[in-house]
Amino acid sequence: MSVPASTPAYSRIAGTGSHLPARRLSNVELAAQLARDGVETSDDWIVERTGIRARHFAEPGEAASDLALQASRHALEAAGRRADEIDLIIVATSTPDMIFPSTACLLQHKLGAAGGAAFDVQAVCSGFVYALAVADAMIRTGSAKCALVVGAEVFSRILDFKDRTTCVLFGDGAGAVVLEASEQPGLLATELHADGKHANILCTPGTVANGKVLGDPLLKMDGQAVFKLAVGVLESVARSVLAKAGRSEADIDWLIPHQANIRIMQGTAKKLKLPLDKLIATVAEHGNTSAASVPLALDHAVRSGSVKRGDTVMLEGVGGGFTWGAALLDY
Ligand code: UT7
Repeated sequence: MSVPASTPAYSRIAGTGSHLPARRLSNVELAAQLARDGVETSDDWIVERTGIRARHFAEPGEAASDLALQASRHALEAAGRRADEIDLIIVATSTPDMIFPSTACLLQHKLGAAGGAAFDVQAVCSGFVYALAVADAMIRTGSAKCALVVGAEVFSRILDFKDRTTCVLFGDGAGAVVLEASEQPGLLATELHADGKHANILCTPGTVANGKVLGDPLLKMDGQAVFKLAVGVLESVARSVLAKAGRSEADIDWLIPHQANIRIMQGTAKKLKLPLDKLIATVAEHGNTSAASVPLALDHAVRSGSVKRGDTVMLEGVGGGFTWGAALLDY
C-alpha cells in the first residue's frame, strides 16, 4: 500500500499584485459626462453617500483577462514565482471575457502557464473570498501547491449610465495573490455563505440565447436592501470566522472588507470594536470593483507598507447572490 503524500498544514499568501486601467474618472468628470445625457448627480452626493471620489474604466478593447494578466504578473514577481510554477488558477469575475472558455483559461494562456487547473468562480462581490477559500482547500488537500487567485472585473460594461443610483458606484480593476502550500500560517479559517432568495436585489438579469441577448444585460440594484443585508452579514461572518480560528476581534491588525461604501465598511469596523485606523479603505479611489475590490485593497495595503508579514488580516466579501464570506489569515 502506498503511503499518502503529506499535505501542508496551511496555504499562505506569497505575493500580491493589482492593476487599474489607465483611464481615471473623478466624480466631477463622471457627473459632467452624465449631465450631457440628462442624468443628474454631483461629487457631493457621491462622496457623502459612498466615500467614492473616482473610479477607473477600461478601454473598449481591454477585457477582464487583460487586467488580470497585469495584476497576476505583479503578484508572481512579489512572490518570486514563475508562471510555469502555478498549478491552479482561479479567477473570480462576473464580467468574463466570454461566456466560455473561462477567463482563468484565457489568463493561463496569456501567462504561459499551461497544464494546471483553471476555472472561474462567480460569486459577484464575494468572488475573491470564495476563490481564496476554494484555493486554500485545494492546497491543504494536496490538489495544488501554488495557486494564482485573482479578482478581475470590467463592470463598466454592464453599467446603465442612465441610472444614477448605480452607475456612479462601480469601477474596473484586478487584484491577485499567489497562494502557496506552507507549514507556517497562513490562512487560518474561511467561511462562505449564500442566500439565493435575495437574487433580485443585485443582479444583471440578461442572458444570451439563439444568437440574441435576452432580457436586460445591465446591472440592477436595490441599494438600501443590499446595504441592510451587508451590514448584518459582514459582522456575523467576521465573528464566526474568528471563532473558527480561535481568535478574537482584538487579534485583527487589519480589516479589509469589500469596498462598496465607506459607511458600510466603517459600520462593520465599529461593530467589531476596531479603531478606524485598522480599516483598509481604497473605495475612494477605486469605486466598487466587485470581485477585484478585496485583492486590490490588500495589494495596496501591502505595497504602501500597512500590512506587514505576520499581521493578522480579515478579508470580507459581500454581494450579489446574495453571497458573503470571510477569510482570516496571518500575512
Ligand atoms: O457591491 C455589492 C454591495 N453593494 C453595496 O454594498 C451597495 C449598498 N448600498 C449603498 O451603498 C447605498 O444604498 C447607495 C449608495 C446605493 C445609496 O445610498 P442611500 O443613502 O441608500 O441613498 P438612497 O437610495 O436612499 O437615495 C437617497 C436619494 C434619493 O432621492 P430622494 O428619493 O430622497 O429624492 C435618490 O434618488 O438620493 C438620490 N440619488 C442620487 N442623487 C444624486 C440616488 N443616486 C443618486 C446620485 N446622485 N448618483
